[in-house]
Amino acid sequence: MNSIKKYNESDFVKLRKAGKLAAIALDNIKDKILPGITTRKIDEIIKKFLRDHNAYPAPLYYRGYPKSICTSINHVVCHGIPSDKELKNGDILNIDVTAYLDGFHGDCSKMFCVGDISVKAKNLINVTKECLNRSIKILKPGIHFGNIGHVIQSFAEEKGFSVVREFCGHGVGENFHEEPNVLHYGNKNEGPILEEGMVFTIEPMINEGKFETKVLKDGWTAVTKDKSLSAQFEHTVGITNNGYEIFTLNKIK
Ligand code: MF3
Ligand code: CO
Ligand code: CO
Repeated sequence: MNSIKKYNESDFVKLRKAGKLAAIALDNIKDKILPGITTRKIDEIIKKFLRDHNAYPAPLYYRGYPKSICTSINHVVCHGIPSDKELKNGDILNIDVTAYLDGFHGDCSKMFCVGDISVKAKNLINVTKECLNRSIKILKPGIHFGNIGHVIQSFAEEKGFSVVREFCGHGVGENFHEEPNVLHYGNKNEGPILEEGMVFTIEPMINEGKFETKVLKDGWTAVTKDKSLSAQFEHTVGITNNGYEIFTLNKIK
């Protein structure tokens, strides 16, 4: 027995709405990611957007977190706190948005490039995105959570990168973080079995160098120990009777 919650079709309707709103918030910020903008400003814009759409930014005051989004620049792996630091040409950053709307969460993140970035950075970003996409494509009832980690780890390591171990994806829905932990490394046919109605995030953090991380004195900001670049993409997905649905998409309809 496991205690992974299963959501029904009326929950899926609300998960779709929360997910779409988070995705739109991320899409809308794209044109503002230019040298000179502060991460504080990005935080304010996204907070306002969510509040204007009757949603709450789930990170705000979550376990004492002080801001509405996470902004993780260059060697920051995750949970970077928005501040007065200005973005500069060549930076890469992850923006992570979680919308809480009508009782349900939509959690997603993606990478943004500031001006012209290095070929190395671009490659890391492309590989990380591909890790997430490849792991989503295999989702259906009956496979094991370990298969997700296996797909991500194999592809990342084949490209010469490493997979962060200390942070993982998670069940999500009525709560921001629920069971299970979704590991981004591992073996096929290990871990719990996916079932229709399960809802979780996949959010691989891939490092250019070694996988080890450390948390800075602020208690949140996680960085690579070797100061190498790190990239991350995240979607919230739901398991359907024969496959999956990505909730955190900005669909036209
Ligand atoms: N959105 C992050 C995730 O993907 C969690 C951020 S928790 C915070 O799980 F408190 F740092 F915001
Ligand atoms: Co998440
Ligand atoms: Co997130």
